Amino acid sequence: MVSSVGIIGAGQMGAGIAQVCAAIGKKVILCDIKQEFLDNGIGTITKNLERSVSKERINQDDMDNTLENVSTTLELNDLNNCDIIIEAIVENIEIKKKLFSDLGHICEEKTILASNTSSIPIGILAEASGRPTKVVGMHFMNPVPVMKLVEVIRAKSTNDDTFDTTFKLAEDLNKVPVLVNDFPGFVSNRILLPMLNEAMFCVMEGVAEPEAIDTVMKLGMSHPMGPLTLADFIGLDTCLAIMEVLHRDFNDNKYRPCPLLKEMVEQGKLGKKSGEGFYKY
Ligand SMILES: NC(=O)c1ccc[n+]([C@@H]2O[C@H](COP(=O)([O-])OP(=O)(O)OC[C@H]3O[C@@H](n4cnc5c(N)ncnc54)[C@H](O)[C@@H]3O)[C@@H](O)[C@H]2O)c1
Repeated sequence: MVSSVGIIGAGQMGAGIAQVCAAIGKKVILCDIKQEFLDNGIGTITKNLERSVSKERINQDDMDNTLENVSTTLELNDLNNCDIIIEAIVENIEIKKKLFSDLGHICEEKTILASNTSSIPIGILAEASGRPTKVVGMHFMNPVPVMKLVEVIRAKSTNDDTFDTTFKLAEDLNKVPVLVNDFPGFVSNRILLPMLNEAMFCVMEGVAEPEAIDTVMKLGMSHPMGPLTLADFIGLDTCLAIMEVLHRDFNDNKYRPCPLLKEMVEQGKLGKKSGEGFYKY
């Protein structure tokens, strides 16, 4: 039974995960590397909850209780006693490996180490942690409070208790967990990202304007959101990182990241979070 949850990374995913865990009564400790990132995370949660109160989906007490369940820290050590830690930091394999190695040293033996990575094989993080049976993937979708799916990724080393506890936590969060085996990009991003990447090639080659491409996919394929809007929403740096993992790990050129995507990330055009991507925000 999970009662305390550590969340590392207070960005768009970490804040959302903190919110949904706190809303069902878990004690959440949110950790990041700078106070301003923690403040932004709490700001995002507060805004989301205020919107829910104004739409009468929850009442003021629910909001207050949820916020009371979230504390923040800049010290990784403060998470050492959590039942589960969900990592939601930048999609960079070396930085994540270092974090899992640190967590392996810091945390009590009981602590499950889950990663919200979009693409990095969980087995690599499991090995880095030095406690591979306790490592699992818990891949939420964005925005976390809205989206029902959680891919629960079972590495070869993940033991039954770790998997079952994580799967049950996802159910308790009122999500629909789906078992996925440990392959780069899992199911969601192995299928989604090549499509987004292809939409970017269409922009680069002048096949159509971004608005036109999004309209084709929305009205022609009944997608709720066009691929370029979605890429902006995910974050173009995250999209590039995922394509690089797929390209490298499958060693197949069909996953080659679109040069326009690389260029935009180099220019700091990261999508919604930076104010500009394929669209301006
Ligand atoms: N954006 C999406 O749609 C989406 C969806 C599912 C999964 N993910 C995955 O979730 C993770 C986070 O993505 P995001 O979109 O929230 O990114 P983000 O850039 O919004 O947030 C990342 C946060 O992690 C913090 N951070 C970086 N290194 C850290 C460290 N060593 N210790 C503590 N905090 C650290 C940063 O300061 C930042 O606040 C990535 O692995 C990403 O692939 C993203």
